[in-house]
Amino acid sequence: MSESNRPKWSGSLGFVLAAAGSAVGLGNIWKFPYITGMNGGGAFVLVYLACIALVGVPVLLAELYIGKVGQANAVLAYEKVHKEKSFWRLPGALGLISAFLILSFYSVIGGWILNFEWCSLLNEFGTRPEGEIKSMLSDLFEDPTRQIFLHSIFMLLTVGIVLGGVQKGIEKWTKLLMPGLVLILIGLLVYSLFLPGFGQAAEFLFLPDFSKLSWEGLLEAVGHSFFTLSVAVGVMVTFGSYLSKDDNLPRMGFSIAIIDTVLALTAGLVIFTAVFSYGIEVDTGPTLIFQTLPLLFGKMPGGYFIAVTFFLLIASTALTSTISILEVVVAYCTETFKAPRRITTLIVGFAAFAVGLLSDLSTNLLSHVKIVGLNFFDFFDKLTSSLFLPLSGLLTSVFLGWVLGPRAVDEIIRDTGFEAYRKTLLICIRVIVPISVSIILIMGLDWLWPA
Ligand code: PHE
Repeated sequence: MSESNRPKWSGSLGFVLAAAGSAVGLGNIWKFPYITGMNGGGAFVLVYLACIALVGVPVLLAELYIGKVGQANAVLAYEKVHKEKSFWRLPGALGLISAFLILSFYSVIGGWILNFEWCSLLNEFGTRPEGEIKSMLSDLFEDPTRQIFLHSIFMLLTVGIVLGGVQKGIEKWTKLLMPGLVLILIGLLVYSLFLPGFGQAAEFLFLPDFSKLSWEGLLEAVGHSFFTLSVAVGVMVTFGSYLSKDDNLPRMGFSIAIIDTVLALTAGLVIFTAVFSYGIEVDTGPTLIFQTLPLLFGKMPGGYFIAVTFFLLIASTALTSTISILEVVVAYCTETFKAPRRITTLIVGFAAFAVGLLSDLSTNLLSHVKIVGLNFFDFFDKLTSSLFLPLSGLLTSVFLGWVLGPRAVDEIIRDTGFEAYRKTLLICIRVIVPISVSIILIMGLDWLWPA
């Protein structure tokens, strides 16, 4: 595709909302609260904020820059910026593969959320006995037909939006969904203010107790800063490639990171308020929103509406993320194979759905199939989050900081009003990101050699 007929955002607002829509997702509303709960609260939150600022944002800016200058898909952009065919396509290629794999299993989780939205609408949390509510998730895991059905609906929604294109699909829908989800979250926050556990939740999240912080928590925070900002998967390169030459990258990058962080903290506050108000353990882990919260919804005043809006909120955040991931692969395939965009969208969506079937089946018919001791779902998750994402992010920072060098950082900063940030960005991208990400990469590889 020639540069002149590549898609473009309608303006900065459209871009920021679409990119923030990608960033805000299950990582904010599901994962951030449960890992914070498991890592003792406040101190982990502080470390997480530091990781966003010192690791996540610099890589985010690097990717937007590569996309904006390269004016091409997530793989080709690196090559165009480097001006030769080279090794430096690797971070883009790793990002592309991760995008495809993440899309395959993220849409499976999207299906679970639709299941819980459906149960909320039928008021099942309010009417079924506790034991049945607790086992809803495991019942779903044992029912491949139901899982596949819901997964296919979620994928159809994703494909349907991306079929509309960048402006009329992704931008239009995120402009609708993002304000909607902010409103829902504000509504839930206001409701939380009236529950007895609000003060305790705020204390848990904002009063650091460093004795509870572990080495694993630290590593988790670095890794999560990538996932939550949608970096190292090609999204920000692809989205950056639809920007215009004079767009202000630091302003946009900071806006995305701030929206992502504020929404994660708000979701944490809402969820922990419910947890403390009803005397539940904070460290229940991944089942927090699928077992613990439904139990609470059954007991809360107005729980029916809270449950319906809460799962609607999560479904919309997941959808604004999956559309961005699909776009990465679609942009790559249309440009590389010179294929029509609509057909490519259908094929890629179907292919990701087909690979996702392995995840649907990994808790039932294929639960006996293990790769390095993990079922398909866990394997795809581990492979991307512990290997491909950190590796891609590491290589991107080395590429920008050392291969392109300070000139690239100057170009990111020049005439943006953020000149004072230049030195910090340079140090982060050349030193802090490579060192911290190399550590998590090495420390996080033990799963490849199961005992
Ligand atoms: N950032 C999203 C979240 O927090 C996940 C995501 C990862 C989206 C990679 C796009 C690409 O849930």
